[in-house]
Amino acid sequence: MVSTLPPKERVRESFERAAASYDAAAVLQRQVCDDLLANFDLSSEPDSIVDAGCGTGYGSQLLRSRWPDAQLTAVDFAPAMLTLARHDAHCCLAADIEALPCRDESFAVWWSSLTVQWCDTNRAFAEAWRVLRPGGRLAVSTLGPETFGELREAFAGIDRYRHTLTFTEPAAIEEALSRAGFTDILWQRRTVCLHYPDLKSLLRAVKDIGAHSVGDGARAGLFGRLAWQRVQAAYERHRTAAGLPARYDVILAYAARKK
Ligand SMILES: C[S@@+](CC[C@H](N)C(=O)[O-])C[C@H]1O[C@@H](n2cnc3c(N)ncnc32)[C@H](O)[C@@H]1O
Repeated sequence: MVSTLPPKERVRESFERAAASYDAAAVLQRQVCDDLLANFDLSSEPDSIVDAGCGTGYGSQLLRSRWPDAQLTAVDFAPAMLTLARHDAHCCLAADIEALPCRDESFAVWWSSLTVQWCDTNRAFAEAWRVLRPGGRLAVSTLGPETFGELREAFAGIDRYRHTLTFTEPAAIEEALSRAGFTDILWQRRTVCLHYPDLKSLLRAVKDIGAHSVGDGARAGLFGRLAWQRVQAAYERHRTAAGLPARYDVILAYAARKK
């Protein structure tokens, strides 16, 4: 099967460059971390947690406040992100979450917010299962196919590039978790809409979190003036009193490693 994922090195470089601008733009990312934690139903206190794809550490900070006695390991393949997350974690690993440099059965909780959409989910979940202990729990958030629907529509017919990632249906996430060996899988889906004054600000916000490297070499900056005006006009059709909407199809999933 041909991968629809962008080249990993390009993704890593985008996040590396975005570390300094990330926090100011990460409105959705903070909201999703809050929701992922609020719905994470754990019956016992975990003693060890891995934050897989920690970014600048917002999730790590939340996990640390909720379970202050747990050993927290933050992992990200962009060292500049990891540097900012450093004060929230006991251990920081600059590594790929598809190939964690951790022993089998190291953690009680594997947590990952808005990162697996950049990964081969089969590999990431197989690694999650491997590093979790029997009885361990997984909490993951990702984005579904309705994400950036307006943006895709505005670009449709303008060029043949892909302007957004190919996002995965919740059923496929559930299947990948099950294939990795997870049980007790529960997922929820919700739409979050953010609003921007114009298309430039919307694309700037995506770039500021490092999420603009989507794979086909498309660059809004290489657009001709006419094409850009057509995209803007197409997007303007979605304008509401709150501004230009960007839709995020947020998926939260929880699972257990039984044995
Ligand atoms: C959108 S950010 C989310 C960060 C954080 N979890 C949050 O919610 O704010 C995605 C992060 O995942 C990291 N990332 C993406 N793919 C990764 C991989 N295969 N291995 C490790 N980190 C990865 C990026 O460097 C980036 O910091």
